[in-house]
Amino acid sequence: MSYRIAVLPGDFIGPEVVDATVEVLEALAPLHGLAFEFQRLPFGGSAIESHGEALPPVTREAAAAADAVLMGSAGGPVGDHPWNRLPREKRVESGILTLRRHLGVYANLRPVTVFPGLERLSPLREERARGTDMLIVRELTGGIYFGKPSGTEADRGYSTMVYERHEVERIARLAFETARKRRGHVTNVDKANVLDVSQFWRDVVVGVHESEYPDVTLEHLYVDNAAMQVVRDPRAFDVLVMGNLFGDILSDLAAVIPGSLGVLPSASLGGSVGLYEPVHGSAPDIAGRGVANPVGTLLSAAMMLRLGLDQGPAAAALEGAVARALADDPTVDLGGSRGTRAFTEAVVAALEPSAVSGARSAARPSAG
Ligand code: NAD
Ligand code: IPM
Ligand code: MN
Repeated sequence: MSYRIAVLPGDFIGPEVVDATVEVLEALAPLHGLAFEFQRLPFGGSAIESHGEALPPVTREAAAAADAVLMGSAGGPVGDHPWNRLPREKRVESGILTLRRHLGVYANLRPVTVFPGLERLSPLREERARGTDMLIVRELTGGIYFGKPSGTEADRGYSTMVYERHEVERIARLAFETARKRRGHVTNVDKANVLDVSQFWRDVVVGVHESEYPDVTLEHLYVDNAAMQVVRDPRAFDVLVMGNLFGDILSDLAAVIPGSLGVLPSASLGGSVGLYEPVHGSAPDIAGRGVANPVGTLLSAAMMLRLGLDQGPAAAALEGAVARALADDPTVDLGGSRGTRAFTEAVVAALEPSAVSGARSAARPSAG
């Protein structure tokens, strides 16, 4: 099978992790009878410099026409920077939001797992991290990110958190459907004790549950307590569903469990084309030093293979190679010695069928 992949490298470490991932996909393809046609497109702050806007029409159109979209990360340093002084609608982050809306990808799946044998990389005690396998289902095209009115005036600033019934119903259904294929447990995260929008959200989730998914277990947590529980006892969670802003925050927090924000992948689904990108940003603080962790992007590519292209065996092969490379010697952000280049080469080497059996026993000592 041959696939057209729109590639949006973005800024700072975005191109570093995307280049690594394209290299691994090119090595993986012939092993699974696949062919990829990668189309690199301008996106982010670098596209503001080269094309005058963060999401140029060429990128928007090619992304919508591709079989899948693979994105790095975009944006400038968090402090004062020319890109951050642009009017809101011209900023890099608005380009990211517009792309998500344009593709219609309302469901952002952010899995948080700890690979067997890699519990030692977690700052949590090993017995707490072991077996972590949760899926954050983040609503991606609504909520306070898009609500109107929103603006700033001389003496006030305001944003609106609003959810329509159909927006909550479809993300709730996706969470319940996904839970049915996993361990049958959904945790709804909201702030219904304070926010009207959250009470509405919760009522809709409960309605969908009672009428369509009574076989799935549903529990509720307020977002403040959820933040604490997720890192206190990560194994208590299967699927978590929440609105746009809460999902953004809790997924960065959950990155503490595997040990680095650099390892978390995501898939954004629900439109005609899936968007696959790591959870992390453009990390200007480490860009150009050859130490960006490509694992989040590699695992996003695995999600692309499995969920977008229906190539489950190739996805599993890629995930296995990443796990073996990590077990052998992780990246510097995880306390290992490998930079982007050395780690990418290790993943490519671990793809080789001949390398599989020997390395697997290193990744899973108990099974070896
Ligand atoms: P960030 O995720 O870029 O970085 C947070 C911390 O994690 C930094 O210390 C960074 O060095 C580290 N880190 C992130 N990814 C890493 C990796 N792959 N390997 C090793 N370490 C890694 O968050 P930030 O600093 O708040 O944001 C920087 C820029 O990125 C901002 O412009 C922000 O808007 C943007 N951003 C973009 C996306 C996206 O493109 N989807 C996502 C988040 C943030
Ligand atoms: C993410 C990022 C984006 C978000 C920003 C950069 C628009 O933080 O993908 O998690 O808030 O969704
Ligand atoms: Mn974020």
